[in-house]
Amino acid sequence: MAEPEVYKFFSEYVYKHTGILYKEQDYYRLDARFNTLIKEFDLKDVSELYHLYIQKITPEMHTTLIDLCTNNETYFMRDLKPFKAFAKEGMSYLKEKFPNDLSYNFWSAACSTGQEPLSLLMALDSFGDNFNLDKVRLEASDISSEALKKAQSGVYTGLEVQRGLPANLLIKYFTQEEESWKIDPSLLKRISFKSLNLLTDNFPLTQYHIIFIRNVLIYQDMDNKRKILAKVCDALKPGGLMFMGAGESLIGVDIPMTQKELGKAFCYVKEG
Ligand SMILES: C[S@@+](CC[C@H](N)C(=O)[O-])C[C@H]1O[C@@H](n2cnc3c(N)ncnc32)[C@H](O)[C@@H]1O
Repeated sequence: MAEPEVYKFFSEYVYKHTGILYKEQDYYRLDARFNTLIKEFDLKDVSELYHLYIQKITPEMHTTLIDLCTNNETYFMRDLKPFKAFAKEGMSYLKEKFPNDLSYNFWSAACSTGQEPLSLLMALDSFGDNFNLDKVRLEASDISSEALKKAQSGVYTGLEVQRGLPANLLIKYFTQEEESWKIDPSLLKRISFKSLNLLTDNFPLTQYHIIFIRNVLIYQDMDNKRKILAKVCDALKPGGLMFMGAGESLIGVDIPMTQKELGKAFCYVKEG
């Protein structure tokens, strides 16, 4: 247990820089993070940690804290239906809606350790109608530098590839190296990874045909959710699609997007 001012300081810092909310009842979840930081910076206890952080936060201290305070839970083909719908009905929709576009811009806006953008490519390649992957520009971003590092390595544990990934796709796209599984490099190199803070960074305008923003806004309060979704909407081309997580919705958010049934999944389409 730390002093109340310590929890307050760290939770306010994390909220200000990421929008991730640690409410008073969640303060105990910071304890394990404090312990990791104490080890990382070779300190004696929480009090030393607090004094270090209130004096001056270096970029390294900032990154380590933010990495620890994000929840990077993800898995391949999470909820499966959105990926199938994206590859089949989503691509048919894009071809009809944007008949003159020679390539498509997709964005996985909180890609964590890379399972989401890789699932998008595997879905296009395996569930789609002979779709040519050369026509895809896929960007993937996250605020967590550790998560991005892993995403860029394309290496997963046996447990990670067993979660959600159909066996035929595991065989098709991965090679086993001792205890690890490595994604086909020709797939990985199609993804352009970057660090991006959804809350504080600007997004490109009217750029994307499809944005996946799944299981990230659940950690934000309503004001921040509205702010981020307004930017996501601006980043989509009119007629572009947005996929949210199962159970996430635009309730309480006033942006020009309407829900659309797509195969066996739901997404949102930007009006226009
Ligand atoms: C639970 S994971 C979801 C990953 C993936 N989209 C999925 O559905 O499986 C949430 C991710 O959002 C990232 N995140 C949290 N706040 C963020 C912010 N303000 N800007 C960018 N990414 C953020 C976290 O680092 C984490 O990797």
